[in-house]
Amino acid sequence: MKFKVFVTREIPKMGIALLRKNGCSVDIFNADRRPLKEELLRHIRGKHAILCLLTDKIDRDVITAGLPALKVISNLAAGTDNIDLEFAAQNGITVTNTPDALTDATAELAGALIFACARRIIESDDFTRRGLFKGWEPMLFRGADIHHQTLGIIGAGKIGQSVAEKSAGFNMKILYTAHARKKDFEARTGARKTTLQKLLKESDFVSIHAPLTQETRHMLTRKELSIMKPAAYLINTGRGPIIKEDDLVWALKNRKIAGAGLDVYEFEPAIHKDLIDLPNVVLLPHIGSATVKTRETMSLTAADNIIAVLHGYMPKYIVNA
Ligand code: DGY
Repeated sequence: MKFKVFVTREIPKMGIALLRKNGCSVDIFNADRRPLKEELLRHIRGKHAILCLLTDKIDRDVITAGLPALKVISNLAAGTDNIDLEFAAQNGITVTNTPDALTDATAELAGALIFACARRIIESDDFTRRGLFKGWEPMLFRGADIHHQTLGIIGAGKIGQSVAEKSAGFNMKILYTAHARKKDFEARTGARKTTLQKLLKESDFVSIHAPLTQETRHMLTRKELSIMKPAAYLINTGRGPIIKEDDLVWALKNRKIAGAGLDVYEFEPAIHKDLIDLPNVVLLPHIGSATVKTRETMSLTAADNIIAVLHGYMPKYIVNA
């Protein structure tokens, strides 16, 4: 075999098959957990490529351990905040990701959280299972409307735009921050660009889709959460550290906002202990892209990116120019 690839966790097998078909020998980390740093350091040595997850911290030490063989770091995710992009670039290593594959699945999960929060789906399910349903009642589980309410999208990249498109179908009014890439985005969705302050003030639902960077870390603290309507819901399927979790707990406890739907956490996989006990929050285990088809496509895309770099072609999804 010409090329050696380290895969940090079991992934859908088509990606592995594609790598093998294209001249790669594949070392798959086979424990049912993420590799420890020393295991990353050991396995990356002598490899031409690493196919890693957002839970693997690919820092200077790991990259250095992969030199001089390492040519490509292929992240099985859209976000690449787990990788030292600059250090990789300085060492001539290409970093790639798998963005398009997961756009719709992640947007759908943001929608699911909007519905779960507004219509109290989790509480109602629990109530029904516990045998408490005694017949239709006018006051039972009244939630919030979604139609004709305002949805604020923080970060209208591909996923943010997809959430907007789907929500426009439910007659929601859309506000957004940050640059929208598709030219006809506003025309198709009726979306209006605004400042973060105005978006927080006017939205009934706020959904986070910005990448995690120095600028977006702790973008939402007590100060920003206090601007939101007391009846509003905050949805996060992006990255946990964009919200200061302590401050979110404060906002939820003090009813500064009505509730939250979270798929990601500041100190993932740890979750603030108070969130667990709060009734006005829906908690998911980072499953934004977790559909069978999406994960298969991500697996193929991550493999394809590696093959392109190792064979001297431009990969489809390159992160560090
Ligand atoms: C990503 O790709 O960045 C998601 O968080 C994982 O699906």
